[in-house]
Amino acid sequence: MSITIKTGADIDAMRIAGRLASEVLDFLTPFVKPGVTTDELDKLCHDYMVDVQDCIPAPLNYAPGGHTPYPKSICTSINHQVCHGVPNDRALKDGDIVNIDITVIKNGWHGDTSRMFLVGNASIAAKRLCALTHDAMWHGIAKVKPGIRLGDIGHAIQTFTENLGFSVVREFCGHGIGLKFHEEPQVLHYGRPGTLEELKTGMIFTIEPMINAGKRDIKSLGDGWTIVTKDRSLSAQWEHTILVTETGYEVLTLSAGSPALPAFITATKT
Ligand code: MF3
Ligand code: CO
Ligand code: CO
Repeated sequence: MSITIKTGADIDAMRIAGRLASEVLDFLTPFVKPGVTTDELDKLCHDYMVDVQDCIPAPLNYAPGGHTPYPKSICTSINHQVCHGVPNDRALKDGDIVNIDITVIKNGWHGDTSRMFLVGNASIAAKRLCALTHDAMWHGIAKVKPGIRLGDIGHAIQTFTENLGFSVVREFCGHGIGLKFHEEPQVLHYGRPGTLEELKTGMIFTIEPMINAGKRDIKSLGDGWTIVTKDRSLSAQWEHTILVTETGYEVLTLSAGSPALPAFITATKT
């Protein structure tokens, strides 16, 4: 398969899926507090997606090549967990940071977004990591327009991040998205300007950098899903689903509760 170019009707459907994914996070926000278990958050999201939004939670039983089927409806990655943290019966505690990653399927179309949450009073270092990772994602988004190349996006994220002394995870990347959860192309969060695929109007893909406070190295836990930093340093991630427009980009995963834009961004649609 190659990169799909979405039609006007496809894009309308992806706008709906994207907004719904973001609205799950809006709904969940007041529940992300010390004492709540990630299983409870998973159940809240599952029921909201299925009963309120009439959506399918894309992660549930997702089993890409060789993987054991993912057992839950959302991913919850806490502190040194990089991504794909599996909800369980452990409670969040004061000072944790947690990435919550939501992917809905609405009328066959996928919307994929994640945010960082501070649980109670997080350390200055943890807050800074979450904020700069949000900025790193937006530095990538800001590059998006027809004619640039995927390497330009990766380069923008990598240089911003490494200049601050943080590291970019290499093993996981953004991805094309549409009728399938993970489509071509792979959207690396590091790279060289002017390299890789050229962006065309109508492409839709995610940008979802994982940034570590320590070294970039990761390892996978025995559950077959959860990824952690090898040095146990904190890791953060944010994710949006992005449409390439004739003049730039449109962020599809926005809703009333989306966080404020970084100062260097003036619009969610250019
Ligand atoms: N939502 C993740 C992404 O951004 C993928 C999660 S796959 C799962 O690509 F199976 F762990 F849910
Ligand atoms: Co994604
Ligand atoms: Co995601």
